[in-house]
Amino acid sequence: MRIRLGTHPAYVVCHPTLVHQLLIADRSFDKGGPIYDKLREVAGNGVGTCPAAVHRRQRRLVQPAFHRDRMPGHAQVMGQEVAALTSSWQHGQILDVPDAMHRLTTAVVVRCLFDPDTDTPGVLALQSSIDAVVAGITRRMTWPLPLIHQLPTPANRRYARARLQVRHLTDGLISHLRSTGAGHDNLMSLLLAPDTDGAFLSDTEVHDQVVTFLVAGVGSTAITLSWAWHLIGTHPDIQTRLHAEADAVLAGRPAQLTDLNTLELTGRIVTETLRLYPPDSLLLTRTTSTDTELGGHPLPTGTTVAFSPYQLHRRADIYPDPDRFAPDRWKDIDKPPPGTWVPFGGGPRKCIADTFVRIQATLALATVAARWQLRPVPGQTIRPVGQTVRAPHRLAMRLHRRRPTPHGGETDSRA
Ligand code: HEM
Repeated sequence: MRIRLGTHPAYVVCHPTLVHQLLIADRSFDKGGPIYDKLREVAGNGVGTCPAAVHRRQRRLVQPAFHRDRMPGHAQVMGQEVAALTSSWQHGQILDVPDAMHRLTTAVVVRCLFDPDTDTPGVLALQSSIDAVVAGITRRMTWPLPLIHQLPTPANRRYARARLQVRHLTDGLISHLRSTGAGHDNLMSLLLAPDTDGAFLSDTEVHDQVVTFLVAGVGSTAITLSWAWHLIGTHPDIQTRLHAEADAVLAGRPAQLTDLNTLELTGRIVTETLRLYPPDSLLLTRTTSTDTELGGHPLPTGTTVAFSPYQLHRRADIYPDPDRFAPDRWKDIDKPPPGTWVPFGGGPRKCIADTFVRIQATLALATVAARWQLRPVPGQTIRPVGQTVRAPHRLAMRLHRRRPTPHGGETDSRA
């Protein structure tokens, strides 16, 4: 399909087989297009935005932070942060769900990847500037008249201020971590260590990676968890079964990594939420780095090619009744066919943290569901479509403390 992205012509690839081909051929379909051009303004040449020519080296550098061996430690931090988040919850309280999930995922990413002992106020400030930058990028990308970005409008001034603040706060975080020697055995230690030739990353390279992980790592998991709570709350049959599973598997304790395979329904809820609301991925773009073709269409060098996980995930020929929240559709699917379920992208540029995310989302949902029921607040309209780019708009839910039943039977909550 031919479309315009702002002033930019682009092709959107709509068939799963072709999307798969697009994703695996990263040398011909390189990171690029208006979204990534804008992202580079803040994340420079970090692992998510760098060209294919240097990507393998960068990916090798940061990949160990997500190695299977690290997952038990990450899961422990995730559990502690869920406990910290819920410790102040009160029965009957109305919860700003996206805000709560955002605080949770910020703390998890910062503690797992940067500084296990951090207290996060500085990072929360950094995260809110990053959110402002991401919102600015989204707005600028879709605005048809680029010249307007040069004008001193309030939105442009906010964007410029947020960018400056991101640089300032990130530099502060890096020098704090350098001086305290924090970041032992995690992403930060990988970034600050010498490579095999004894060379260190420059300050700018470290900065770009830190911003990349904060931009990529916090918002999307918070969006997924927020949509999951909304979907669970509006599907009482699924909610009852989720509580029963949490009670049966956890028997009152927080979820651990070893519970992951037993929390079957919870895992399917995560998969189905990512299908219905793949965060931040209404359109993902590539630029052809050579004259090439896809599906028989010639594509000269410099063509923007995009795909939309949202569109693929809602194809009725792949997912019958595609708009319905149906976690059980995943019951007998071990591995979806290539290109059909792509919330994490695919090929060499696939999300580095897909396993990390699945663990975090599954453990968080189960641990909270074992103790709390999140009920929709009547009278709210949660907008269903544009929010694939962001968290559900103003999602407030009422907290009910549960009295879990030890054997996963009928669950009970105080009225
Ligand atoms: C629900 C949560 C998440 C979703 C849906 C998600 C989705 C994605 C997608 C679609 C891409 C590929 C983009 C493209 O091909 O153009 C990607 C890349 C990436 N993601 Fe995630 N992500 C999530 C969470 C995270 C987390 C928690 C982190 C880090 C802590 C992270 C770090 C990255 C990085 C570094 C890349 C670039 C990988 C590369 O190019 O080698 N993401 N993510």
